[in-house]
Amino acid sequence: MILQNDLLLRALKGEELSRPPVWMMRQAGRYLPDYIKLRNQYDFFTRVQTPELACAITLQPVDQVGVDAAIIFSDILVIPQAMGMTVTMEEGKGPLLPEVIKNQADVDALHTDNAAARLDYVMNALSLTKKELNGRVPLIGFAGAPWTLLCYMVEGKGSKTFDKAKQFCLTQPELAHQLLQKITDITIDYLIAQVAAGADTVQVFDSWSGMLSPADFKRFAQPYLMQISDAVSKHAPVILFPKGSWYAMQDISNSSASGIGIDWTVTPQLARELTDNNITIQGNFDPSHLLAPIPQIKKEVKEMIDAFGTTRYIANLGHGIMPNIPVDHAKAFVDAVKEYAK
Ligand code: CP3
Repeated sequence: MILQNDLLLRALKGEELSRPPVWMMRQAGRYLPDYIKLRNQYDFFTRVQTPELACAITLQPVDQVGVDAAIIFSDILVIPQAMGMTVTMEEGKGPLLPEVIKNQADVDALHTDNAAARLDYVMNALSLTKKELNGRVPLIGFAGAPWTLLCYMVEGKGSKTFDKAKQFCLTQPELAHQLLQKITDITIDYLIAQVAAGADTVQVFDSWSGMLSPADFKRFAQPYLMQISDAVSKHAPVILFPKGSWYAMQDISNSSASGIGIDWTVTPQLARELTDNNITIQGNFDPSHLLAPIPQIKKEVKEMIDAFGTTRYIANLGHGIMPNIPVDHAKAFVDAVKEYAK
């Protein structure tokens, strides 16, 4: 199928563009009234596991906000589920994994085989969405990075410090590496299967990598991100989002990844300097600035694109959109990118 709007893929290839593509992390979600209606009818993992629902939710921001890419509605925690762990989503609280990983027997019990079969509902959602998109915009697949998934698998829930996850890595480093490798193995198969099912590109969310010192990132995060990128980039362009890990930019810009996501704590100038214009940069609007008056949002978006340039750049937020963002403010962000002219 020929894409009518392939800006995202052209940006990832480094083609010269007169305006960047735009999408928003967590764009299919709780700030959209139509999503809230479905949320009140079906619980979280029913929405994720029913291809018709996941497809409908994925299309909402494409139809209603006008983004240049769709990202499949799912969650990073489907991998721990496929590996055999119980994961529930507590309304208003976040994820809960009642039986956490503590020892060798726990790691040994985790499955790494048959990713595509264990997660066939994701593949079905992707192929249905690809068909329904009918070439309007590219479709993004995704997974959580090994370090971020280890955080949830060891802590059992979110945390401000992830100190239990760090304790696990520091007191049982060999076991931590076994766990990270198992997550890496299944994630590689999972992402390649997503591409086969219709994903045009994939993003790896390392949401908690910024909790790690540069030295710990090099030990517990980077090698696994690199393995995933090296294997999956043979099939489709890979975007890595190691949130908060500005120190990783130079290495990632010299890797097999096509794109790197950055948050709002980095200036465009520093990001370009550290990556030497070798990689497409995605980001980095502070999501809370979507609460500013619309004229200010538009002004800040223009300044952001002026600073990054229109080539090797994907306009996005620096992290996920928040539930309290008015839809017309999200749309103003997207419109401002589309209206950009030097
Ligand atoms: O981006 C999209 O629009 C696609 C959907 C998507 C979801 N989760 C749906 C979701 C994506 C890409 C994710 C990724 C994800 N999940 C991450 C990485 C991205 C990031 O923001 O750092 C993480 C850390 C998770 C784990 C997770 N899932 C948490 C911590 C929570 C609760 C807090 C929160 O963000 O709401 C979830 C639940 C979740 N995943 C919701 C949605 C829409 C909200 C629950 C609901 O709507 O019922």
